[in-house]
Amino acid sequence: MSADRSRAPALLLAKLGPGVSLDEEAGGVLRARFDRDTLLLGKFSAAALCRASEFAKGLPLSAVVENEAPEDKELRGLIQRLALHGLVEYRLSRGTGGRDIVVIEPQMRDYRPNLQKLDATRRFVLSRFAYLRRRGEDLILECPLAGAAFRLCDARAASAIALLATPRSLAELPSEPDFPGDEFLALLVDCRIAFATDPGKALRACEGDEDLALWEFHDLLFHVRSTNGRHANPTGGLYAHADLVPQPPAVRPAWPGPAIELGKIADASDSAIAALLRRRRSERIFDDAHPITLAEVARFLDGAARIVSRQRLIEADGEEIEIAARPYPSGGASYELELYLAVDKCDGLARGFYHYDADRHALVAIEVTQRQLEAIIDDGQFAMGAPRPPQIMITMAARFGRVSWKYSGFAYALVLKHVGVVMQTLYLVATEMELGACAIGVGDIDLFARMTGLPFHVEGAVGQMAIGRAVQNVS
Ligand SMILES: Cc1cc2nc3c(=O)[nH]c(=O)nc-3n(C[C@H](O)[C@H](O)[C@H](O)COP(=O)(O)O)c2cc1C
Repeated sequence: MSADRSRAPALLLAKLGPGVSLDEEAGGVLRARFDRDTLLLGKFSAAALCRASEFAKGLPLSAVVENEAPEDKELRGLIQRLALHGLVEYRLSRGTGGRDIVVIEPQMRDYRPNLQKLDATRRFVLSRFAYLRRRGEDLILECPLAGAAFRLCDARAASAIALLATPRSLAELPSEPDFPGDEFLALLVDCRIAFATDPGKALRACEGDEDLALWEFHDLLFHVRSTNGRHANPTGGLYAHADLVPQPPAVRPAWPGPAIELGKIADASDSAIAALLRRRRSERIFDDAHPITLAEVARFLDGAARIVSRQRLIEADGEEIEIAARPYPSGGASYELELYLAVDKCDGLARGFYHYDADRHALVAIEVTQRQLEAIIDDGQFAMGAPRPPQIMITMAARFGRVSWKYSGFAYALVLKHVGVVMQTLYLVATEMELGACAIGVGDIDLFARMTGLPFHVEGAVGQMAIGRAVQNVS
């Protein structure tokens, strides 16, 4: 492919992540040590243990992937196991012990770099979702579509990225020996940071499907970085800035202007909805001796989420739109949110995963593995810090295109506003029915994609809520 050019081939190495070491224990057992924690990796042959010792400085991946020797198979399993726990990084280097071009930091559990051969007749271009940023003193290349982030160690890697703003074939990249060429581009393409173009077709249309074409850069980045499953950054209530800044006060300090004391004028003490709102609270512990019933689920979904009318409208600008209204408001009557129920315990309904068909008012079973079902329910239990799993975990999934087909600039923000609207609707219907409910702040978009088989950018998890029979509501 690049035989007529002088660029030196680069080597892809698998290397233990920073702060990770491998300890050999009695009987050929390996254990990884990291952050004051350890991971038992199993028993290995003497040949595999000898090769595994190269892991600290970098193990050439091509040999491990291509060879069928028993120790290579063992090493493949070892790398996969370490990668699943985020303990491996990959490096594209100029030979073992040579200078690194990039360090590849896996962001997804099943990511493994793949040095595919690129078609020399095609032109490649950078994804419109890719971006470079400074992290500490490193330059990082990221893309919300990618399973890995690239730490650029060589200024020429940044030059190659800059050149790929315009579609280029391999032959159109500089041919100096040290310029990151075929292997670097192959990794970018494998990771969806760059893609092959089609002459005569717009770049936006060449990259992915019609649904991807509807996404804007900031929306896709926000979706991927503010959920779990497609990045490896720490998330959750980590109080990361507590040492730097005091907590902002719970109540805003009053403005200095004159105040009209409303309490002397009117209150909502005679309002049924105000009473319902005040009764609502988050319930995290459910009574498994008296689980929620199928009849309650049916009434709950009918009240909160069922399609109440369907119509076609001609908008002021002449566009004809189809609307399927539900009991809550939705910007532009988009109604893009779908409800999926992961059922652990429900009287009259088998444990499993279901889509709520809001038109038919029906639950449609979706086949998932027991592990996936457990994982989504466990995530809810973990997020609530609850002693037992929730009886039902509801995932709100957005059919993003319903919103982004019409709205530019704030499509994803609108989706999240809708999630809030639906959460409160579910809370209030649950309260009225004396059921327990608790909103959950974050979900795993990759897990949901694997459970449904739907690409994360087409119909993706954006909100979660647990429901069931609250313990104190048992008579
Ligand atoms: C968007 C949103 C996300 C939330 N995420 C979580 C969560 O992940 N875990 C949890 O235990 N509670 C969660 N809650 C519940 C809040 O902790 C709760 O609403 C708050 O403490 C006030 O209590 P109340 O709902 O009982 O009035 C969430 C609430 C909202 C609205």
